[in-house]
Amino acid sequence: MSYKCLICGKNIEPFMSFGQMPFANGFLTPEEFKNEYFFGLEVASCSVCRMFQLIEQPAPEKMFHGDYAFFSSTSNRMAVHFKEFAENIKKNKLKNKDPFVVEIGCNDGIMLEHFAKDRIRHLGIEPSLNVAKVANEKGCRTISKFFNEELAEEIVKEHGQADAFLGANVMCHIANLNSVIAGIKKLLKPEGVVVFEEPYLLDVIEKTSYDQIYDEHVFLFSLGSIKYAFGQYDLELIDIEPQKTHGGSMRYVIAHKGSHSISDKVLRQLKKEEQSGLNKDETYLKFKKNCEISRRDLINLLQKLKKEKKRVVGYAATSKSTTILNYCRITKDLIEFISDTTPIKQGKYSPGMHIPVKPYAEFKAKYPDYAFLFAWNHAEEIMEKEKAYRDSGGQWILHVPKVQVI
Ligand code: TYD
Repeated sequence: MSYKCLICGKNIEPFMSFGQMPFANGFLTPEEFKNEYFFGLEVASCSVCRMFQLIEQPAPEKMFHGDYAFFSSTSNRMAVHFKEFAENIKKNKLKNKDPFVVEIGCNDGIMLEHFAKDRIRHLGIEPSLNVAKVANEKGCRTISKFFNEELAEEIVKEHGQADAFLGANVMCHIANLNSVIAGIKKLLKPEGVVVFEEPYLLDVIEKTSYDQIYDEHVFLFSLGSIKYAFGQYDLELIDIEPQKTHGGSMRYVIAHKGSHSISDKVLRQLKKEEQSGLNKDETYLKFKKNCEISRRDLINLLQKLKKEKKRVVGYAATSKSTTILNYCRITKDLIEFISDTTPIKQGKYSPGMHIPVKPYAEFKAKYPDYAFLFAWNHAEEIMEKEKAYRDSGGQWILHVPKVQVI
């Protein structure tokens, strides 16, 4: 079977399969087990445009709906991060009078609220109705739709063109990225900017953080692939800013071709990507091998702890944990339950492997011997607030950049 690259349309071949996967955020009740949806999670890197992508994408309506389980405002550090993101845009990118800001995938308004409170004209676009509702309640003007060229035209008619088009952890979710970029081209003022940040492919490769690969992450971007994708529409990458969020992300700044000068940082990072082999097939085959080693080491560790009759609990039922658990086939005989602070996930079961998800209070009530930190990207914040667990003799299991107990 031959597949086409979602960006440039050339033939692509998967280099790795993770097997059958459920939805990363598809937490479910026992009654739902028998109808659980699975799809083949396979990845490819296009040899022409070098876009790293999933071969098969479940329909977006199945993933982002009225019961979407991910709320951005569950981490204090992320709230600070998005406040800083908004402040940076206000200070450096909104030079016009009465500017207009559009955010795609604004979730519960974690970033947009900082524009709303300053009465800056704004519009959030969030397809998941339940989270969009929270954003509206916070005073962020938000519509529950999928952004594309057609919607861009409607927005221009109603509000005029945008000074800034923002996004965080959303552009990599959209299989029809070309239509989004075509929409951006129409929506953006001649001097406007697009600023978005997403998990960065080079971090994933270097840390073997294969858990960034799941249904919602249709793409993992690099500067090279972003430059190509936007270049098709006469938009160009003018600046970047590496971020620590999500275990290593990249913030991209894009503008109409020729409207801004290009920062040296872009050129330097493109060189680094080339030197790191992001343009070579061998790099991806090596990544596959590293994933297999990581899986073997993790299973061995969990089985050893089981033999020693240690209690192991998962910390945070992240989307990422769904990939780890299903790729490594980890069931509740190895991980007793997963503690999570999101009410909508509690009392349900993890997608695919059906490990119970319990409220955080259960973790606190009886500390386990080991806690598998599925939210390793929030390690600093979590370690800081879990000093008592550590003091009680509790240990952390991390699988990134290699399987280890700390
Ligand atoms: P995140 O890494 O942002 O998730 P994802 O892989 O889905 O992008 O983590 C968010 C999840 O982690 C969310 O379910 C809440 C949970 N969480 C906790 O349970 N405790 C915590 O201290 C933190 C920071 C997150």
